[in-house]
Amino acid sequence: MMRHFGILVAVFLMTLSTGAEAQTTFSIVPQPDSVKLGRGNFVLSNSTVIASGGGLGRLAGYLKEQIGIFTHLKLKQTHAGAKNAVVLVLDKSFRGPDAEAYSLDVTPEKVVLKAGAEVGLFRGIQTLLQIIPLPDSSKNGSFMIRSCSIKDHPLFGWRGLNLDCVRHFMTKDFIKRYIDLLAYYKFNVFHWHLTDDQGWRIQIKKYPRLTEVGAWRTEADGQKYGGYYTQKDIKEIVAYAKSRYITVVPEIEMPGHCLASLASYPENACVPGPFQVGIQWGVYKDIYDPAKASTYTFLENVLTEVMKLFPSHYIHIGGDEVPKVEWKENAGCQKLMKEKGLKNGEELQSYFIRRIQKFVESKGRQIIGWDEILEGKGPGQGGVVESWRGIDGAIQAAAGGHYTILAPGEYTYLSRDPEDLSLDSVYSFNPVPSALTPAQRKYVMGTEASMWSEHAPQETVDSKMFPRLLAMAEDAWTAQGRKNYADFHERLQAQYARLTYLGVDYGPERKAISYKTTFDKEKKEFVITLSPTQAGIAIRYTVGDTLDLADSHLYTHPVVISSTATFLTQAEMNGRLVGNPISLSFITDKALNAGVKVEEPYAPQYAAGGVESLVDGIRGTVNYNDGLWLGYKGTDLNAVIDLKKEETLSEAGAGFYQSIGSYIFLPSSVQFLVSKDGIRFESVGVAQNVVPEKDPDTVIKDFTVTFKPTEARYVKMIAKSIGVCPPWHIGAGHKAWLFIDEIFAN
Ligand code: ACM
Repeated sequence: MMRHFGILVAVFLMTLSTGAEAQTTFSIVPQPDSVKLGRGNFVLSNSTVIASGGGLGRLAGYLKEQIGIFTHLKLKQTHAGAKNAVVLVLDKSFRGPDAEAYSLDVTPEKVVLKAGAEVGLFRGIQTLLQIIPLPDSSKNGSFMIRSCSIKDHPLFGWRGLNLDCVRHFMTKDFIKRYIDLLAYYKFNVFHWHLTDDQGWRIQIKKYPRLTEVGAWRTEADGQKYGGYYTQKDIKEIVAYAKSRYITVVPEIEMPGHCLASLASYPENACVPGPFQVGIQWGVYKDIYDPAKASTYTFLENVLTEVMKLFPSHYIHIGGDEVPKVEWKENAGCQKLMKEKGLKNGEELQSYFIRRIQKFVESKGRQIIGWDEILEGKGPGQGGVVESWRGIDGAIQAAAGGHYTILAPGEYTYLSRDPEDLSLDSVYSFNPVPSALTPAQRKYVMGTEASMWSEHAPQETVDSKMFPRLLAMAEDAWTAQGRKNYADFHERLQAQYARLTYLGVDYGPERKAISYKTTFDKEKKEFVITLSPTQAGIAIRYTVGDTLDLADSHLYTHPVVISSTATFLTQAEMNGRLVGNPISLSFITDKALNAGVKVEEPYAPQYAAGGVESLVDGIRGTVNYNDGLWLGYKGTDLNAVIDLKKEETLSEAGAGFYQSIGSYIFLPSSVQFLVSKDGIRFESVGVAQNVVPEKDPDTVIKDFTVTFKPTEARYVKMIAKSIGVCPPWHIGAGHKAWLFIDEIFAN
């Protein structure tokens, strides 16, 4: 008893003497292999030195700089043997499972970071930075670090982030900042998506038009948008990443996703140009011609310059989403297929991939491709498969003896809204498919997060990437047996303070606000009840179409709406609006809660609250999965509503949805008819579609007719579907969706 009491007193006195509280736990992300807390604290202050042996000066300089960033201390660098020191020890006899392994021992006398390789020391430095308290917990410029012994190594040797700098261009400084953020969380691969339909972002000296033409697109509103990285920029970024022990893997897309390249050099296409750099998201059918020798010369010359700039052993050649329609219609492609005995477009694709692979391998490098490279005859043996359409590609790859990187969209695409891909879902991801045999598991190189930037201009990337990138960090680094979501979530709370300190505008962990709307039939009022889904979220709302922080209400209790209105709500975090705004429109027209009969069955996956939701007064939102839209596949829609008594009507209408990327199109026309008896109907007008079919944005459109005041009890609506996706659409010939919510009459 006395002994224990004595220890307690000693710790208590030490706490008093520095004036700061001792750490009772650490919040390290990703979680190390083992963390043992010891007695007492090391006090980091301006009198602490960074001591290192020969050859580690640069790494010690990095540590000094980073400690400066996190503490504002200015430590001195010195040689081994010093007291009150943070000591970096490169110990060739260090026994760790791999080069990234390290140990970190903190005692009241010193901090010793040991590894068998510099990269291990670098990873260990990140752990050290995370256990130094932030300045707001320091006293008199000193920082108490609890004594501890940490041992650590990564689960995977490939821990990546794929950043799409095509759909939105991101500045050199932004990328360097992300390289630092990746380093803090022990990532080691920056996969840089540099070319696509909507832009070519890497200077290639042999082909200047790639950036003169291909780096710029003319948006629908006439604005020029674009940018590119010069070879000098790229060298700077690659060197910066190298100093953070991060490999930059360039991705040069082929044979599809290459419209910006074709706009620059149309001779590489298999249909005559000219081509414009893409301004729609999605997939374009214009692709490289695999039957012309000159296409390979062009791509090999491009890759030669790329390989000079990027020392990465792996070069990503894309390979995803290749529509084969133009190959089928091209005489040269057909001739090549006959000559080479290629049975279909998939085999022609693998012929192309293998030919490029052979070239890349002739330079001592290896290719990575998205899982479509498995199609046809697949890649040659050395091809690495990045599995994005689920994990099947990885399973097939490993079964075929190909190395694989797990990047299934449903877990790792952080470009998806947190409401579709929550923090806990990302955390639940185990990159090793359970279907793999123990022998096949060695083919799993690791995992990558992806930030596709169609809907992520640079200034919004932080709020999508964080905090979910930290869950990915742990998926990639921490052994499955050491992962625990509740524990991670607790550690994340401390990381939030660090992210704030670093100026990271992190966003919500999941859908920020949950809501419920009810209709009080007696009072004829809608009641909206909102709740935040995590701590630190305040809810702002307004009754109107635009919401900003200054001009909105703080939600404290349910909101009542008693007439036609739009209610807008959004989450507020750290003084910023975050997450998607939720816009709820209510309509109190004469059709509210009318009887409704619809001839065609709706699709079960888009059932809303049944056909009654067409007249429930609550209108569908911009999210077609909101449970408010009714979806019909390929059919027209005939509906009759019964107002239950005769009314004088002069307007009828209905709301429809368009999102062409999701195969949802507005109707071509909507006719309204009225009747007193429900048998004989009189047409009161037809509303034609005036929205362009190719509009790339989500469109919610009311089709409304006005007519001379007419007595009626029944309103019939005939909405004409376009039937199938138009010839220019990626889904040409497939059934088109028709989405409707709310039929109204006044
Ligand atoms: C991809 O998301 N198309 C790789």
